[in-house]
Amino acid sequence: MHIHIEIEEYSSITELSKTEQLLVQKAKEIALQAYAPYSKFQVGAALLLENGVIVTGNNQENVAYPSGLCAERTAIFYANAQFPDQAVHTLAIAVFRNNEFAPMPITPCGSCRQVMLETQNRHRHPMRVIMAGEKKIYIANSVQDILPLSFDSLE
Ligand code: THU
Repeated sequence: MHIHIEIEEYSSITELSKTEQLLVQKAKEIALQAYAPYSKFQVGAALLLENGVIVTGNNQENVAYPSGLCAERTAIFYANAQFPDQAVHTLAIAVFRNNEFAPMPITPCGSCRQVMLETQNRHRHPMRVIMAGEKKIYIANSVQDILPLSFDSLE
């Protein structure tokens, strides 16, 4: 079996549309407000909804480590709570650690991918995922491209 996925790779943010550049900027800004005293790995996520609203979130850690939540899920759950009928068209992720924004993209953890997939399926609209590093930017046009062989049905 061969599974085909596609990831776009860019070397400069200027290769992205103005809207996507804004989304990456918002992800970077909100990363700086992450509560990550334990890992010191501050992640920001910015979502563009179909109505044009941008929702942002960041990771929220806890001294009981598993009680914390990643930036992607913080943002997605908030968006789905506030705007349950709005598809998430684009999600941008950025990381600040070691006193600088990460040069290479970080890719969402498995649990976040699972939640992103359900959001995409629920709204019946592919989610474009921008994983933004300072030197490289990866973009998937669907969550399926970063979660092949996913579990998405009880049948
Ligand atoms: N984290 C995120 O917020 N998003 C990811 O995609 C990867 C990991 C958070 C969880 C934890 O607070 C910190 O980064 C280190 O793992």
